Amino acid sequence: MEHIGSIDSLKLTVLCDDNTGITKQFLSQHGFCLLLEIHSNTVNKNILFDTGQSTLPIFHNMNLLDIKPSCIDMIMLSHAHNDHTGGLISILEAIDKETPIIAHPDLFKENFSSIPFLRYTGCPYTKQDIINKKGKLLLSKEPIKLLDGILFSGQIKTTSYPCLNNSKYYNLVDGKKVVDEILDDTCLILNIKSKGLLIITGCCHSGIMNTISHAIDVTGINEIYGIIGGLHLVNTAPSLINTTLHELYKFKLQTISLGHCTGVTATHKCIELFLDKCTLLHSGKILEY
Ligand SMILES: [Fe+2]
Ligand SMILES: [Fe+2]
Repeated sequence: MEHIGSIDSLKLTVLCDDNTGITKQFLSQHGFCLLLEIHSNTVNKNILFDTGQSTLPIFHNMNLLDIKPSCIDMIMLSHAHNDHTGGLISILEAIDKETPIIAHPDLFKENFSSIPFLRYTGCPYTKQDIINKKGKLLLSKEPIKLLDGILFSGQIKTTSYPCLNNSKYYNLVDGKKVVDEILDDTCLILNIKSKGLLIITGCCHSGIMNTISHAIDVTGINEIYGIIGGLHLVNTAPSLINTTLHELYKFKLQTISLGHCTGVTATHKCIELFLDKCTLLHSGKILEY
């Protein structure tokens, strides 16, 4: 267990989500991309969490928000799926400086889905493509401290709680089709001073309960202040949605912001349970902690 430290404040801007807001002409696309502006008394850094499916909506939204790619200090990729990794190369080109990229070592697996039709669903780039654009890959199954108060989760240890990978994805290993357990699914764990842990998920294929229990395990901190991201409860049996969200409710979250692959049923259930503590993510949304 690593002493995580803490941050003073965080400004989170949704650069791309599946939904658009209504106040400005933001664009959306199935995919996820967040900018985290982190302030602590020792350091201020900007982390890009995931890179969406393509940069068309991301660059458009950054323009509207007056955010320059050169402000990005590091990139974390939550998992290989191309709705989280697809924009990486164009973003690195726009940043145009050496940029650390943190992810799980399975990032480059040959990943497919046949539902609803056969398609490549993995990271669309090779290691060399990334190196060519000044990306510095740091691939780790272990948690890694990115700065004081912020931990990359590493591989999320699963417990008796179910994972949410739906057996929809498979990998090609030595020419054989192998069910993808999505072990590359990771999250970002932030410890906000006098609030507790804020967990940021991409698709949360490991399941939110496994993700929380892993975050507690690797930080030794039991206080979960909030959750932000996709919960991958879309197309999930209502009984599993109910049990998952009732378990989640026990953590007395102060804030829960949902988007991407959470799904309509789970989102409605969360609003019912968490009332005004629950907000919905959309392109252009800004959250401050
Ligand atoms: Fe996703
Ligand atoms: Fe995913």
